Amino acid sequence: MPNKSVYLYQEARANFFNMMLMLVMAFLGGIALILNEVEIFTADKDMFRYAILELVTYAAVPFLIYLIHDKIRKCKKHDTILEKPFFKVIIIIFIFFCVIDLCVSWSFQGTLLMAIPPIVAAQYKNERKFFICVIIATVIMIPFVIYGSYFFGLYDANLLKPLTQVEAEEMQNRINSFTPKRAGEIFGHYVIPRILCIMAIDFIAITITKRTAFMLDMQDMLNNAIVEEKEEKSVMQQNVIEDLADVVETRDIETGDHIKRTKLYVNILARALKNSDKFKDQLNDEEIDMITSAAPLHDIGKIAVSDLILCKKGRLTDEEFEKMKLHTTKGGEIINHILNDLKDEKFLKTAHDIAMHHHEKWNGSGYPMGLKEEEIPLSARIMAIADVFDALISKRCYKEAMPIDDAINIIIKDAGTHFDPNIVEVFKEIIPEFKEAANRKL
Ligand SMILES: [Fe+2]
Repeated sequence: MPNKSVYLYQEARANFFNMMLMLVMAFLGGIALILNEVEIFTADKDMFRYAILELVTYAAVPFLIYLIHDKIRKCKKHDTILEKPFFKVIIIIFIFFCVIDLCVSWSFQGTLLMAIPPIVAAQYKNERKFFICVIIATVIMIPFVIYGSYFFGLYDANLLKPLTQVEAEEMQNRINSFTPKRAGEIFGHYVIPRILCIMAIDFIAITITKRTAFMLDMQDMLNNAIVEEKEEKSVMQQNVIEDLADVVETRDIETGDHIKRTKLYVNILARALKNSDKFKDQLNDEEIDMITSAAPLHDIGKIAVSDLILCKKGRLTDEEFEKMKLHTTKGGEIINHILNDLKDEKFLKTAHDIAMHHHEKWNGSGYPMGLKEEEIPLSARIMAIADVFDALISKRCYKEAMPIDDAINIIIKDAGTHFDPNIVEVFKEIIPEFKEAANRKL
């Protein structure tokens, strides 16, 4: 893979191939000129000499410019004229002159039809298949070209009309005079020019095929690199989240079960919300995955709160509770600090919202910011229900576990004060799923 841009590299290659194509045309033109001089071909000699001279001149101009600039001046590789935009213009102009010269001076009918196989084959990336296809197609078409050129050459503009009496007689005469000698003449007159033209078309088609294949490979490489980077980022993100969740667990701030269960409740609730009329436009699968992945980090800020407060048996004093409340803002800061490097803005915002706002209340009496109703991010409103539900039914150092049905009643009772009433409506419909999740062994 060259250092320079793929596009520039391909432009230089195309210029070189096209320059060579013109030289090949001139070389084959020279051979045709010799065949005409020794009367194997029977074109008008003056006209043919003039045509070939023109062809050689056209082909020589870009090649001479290339020789003088690149070879005689011994330019450095990055300074090659093949990469200069004006050289592309020269190539295109002169290749156009060459083709016009061939069209005007040589027999051209039928060549267009012969161009179909290489053009079709050029759509495939496999070069071997391409070569085999064009060679077989060209060889198969040669007898048809001889036959068509000889019998229909005269009347090709009128093929759809019935032949007149004179034309039919001419056709009959041609059939009668179709001897091996005549077939040889036709081969020289009609077939050789067509084969030369088809070789030129093949050459162009091969160049286009190679170029397209190269660009497709580059595209593939780029796509794979993007997919790999995305996967790598996702794995890295998951590792960071798991490591952070482990930190919370190993400090005995919460049990591993609380982290796993709240993640499960969040997922169940978010999926149910996506299927509800009220929230179906606010959640998609990607967001549900993000909320679920970020849920284990909701209490990450507790690593900044003293054990004496976290595990105090009995009620916290007002001062202690104020310190406890700081786990939300601390959590937001920790997440911003650690996850910022992941360069995933959406995930960072979701995780930050959950850690920062999972203790906000629908009526605005929560903390840390006293947000109310839909000011509270949806992810945090979902987290609040999952967190409180699991806290109620779990045993903690300061309290006993509550029966599941009682916890469910508290969630329903607190709709519109603590919790988003619309989410609680959906929660009511999935109570069996919550119960099943609460009793599941994780
Ligand atoms: Fe919390």
